[in-house]
Amino acid sequence: MKKTWFGLLCMALILVLGATAAMAKPVLKVGTSADFPPFEFQDEKTGEYLGFDIDLINAIGEAVAMDVEIVNTAWDGLIPGLLTGNFDCIISAMTITEDRLKAVDFSDPYFSASQVIVTKLEDTSIKTLEDLVGKQVSVQIGTTGDLEVSEVDGIIVKRFNLAPDAIQEVRNGGVAACVIDLAVAEEISQQYKDIKYGEPITTEEYGIAIRKGNSQLLEKINKGIAEVKASGQYDEIYAKWLKD
Ligand code: ARG
Repeated sequence: MKKTWFGLLCMALILVLGATAAMAKPVLKVGTSADFPPFEFQDEKTGEYLGFDIDLINAIGEAVAMDVEIVNTAWDGLIPGLLTGNFDCIISAMTITEDRLKAVDFSDPYFSASQVIVTKLEDTSIKTLEDLVGKQVSVQIGTTGDLEVSEVDGIIVKRFNLAPDAIQEVRNGGVAACVIDLAVAEEISQQYKDIKYGEPITTEEYGIAIRKGNSQLLEKINKGIAEVKASGQYDEIYAKWLKD
């Protein structure tokens, strides 16, 4: 008698476990460098990952029935990490560039961006890249900001691993300016009233990076982006994190 009950219990357990396994969604591992508010950053108290990109990738995951797992990785380790398989894709306010396209594939663009020059509030001498010749300028290493200033002869480039440290250097007086993405300059200069930023100096588009040839995932992500845009969720996420 006892044996029968035990057998039944085991069978029930196997059924429940089997059903749960069948329901479990595939996991989408996402690399991001959580140092770039309002796109990706960590809540100081809870350690939770927050921002425009985080909400967007979660909405995309929902649209294509995948569970999103965030893997926080230093900015300059993101593409190497993707290539070694530490994660399946990157969302990190990453601009689609010719150079990066040699190493990875990108999703359809999901955000229009630009670089701006951040200076101290009282500075009136700096408006264009040419005004930076002969001066020290901070950037986050390997970003499009780095690319822009490195192309101009005579700018002394100071490279930082973390984006906020590059901006902080302007406040500290260590550099005359920082070149960084507009929305990040906007966010940080709201927090610190002693800096300002100028007009856009580039036009760029962010994309989600995927290993080359992973066309199945690329299709899924593009489908997800399209659905999130069509449903109005994209606009909600935009309004939540960005000013007009
Ligand atoms: N948009 C710039 C680039 O692609 C900067 C992105 C930096 N992202 C970050 N999460 N720190 O180079």
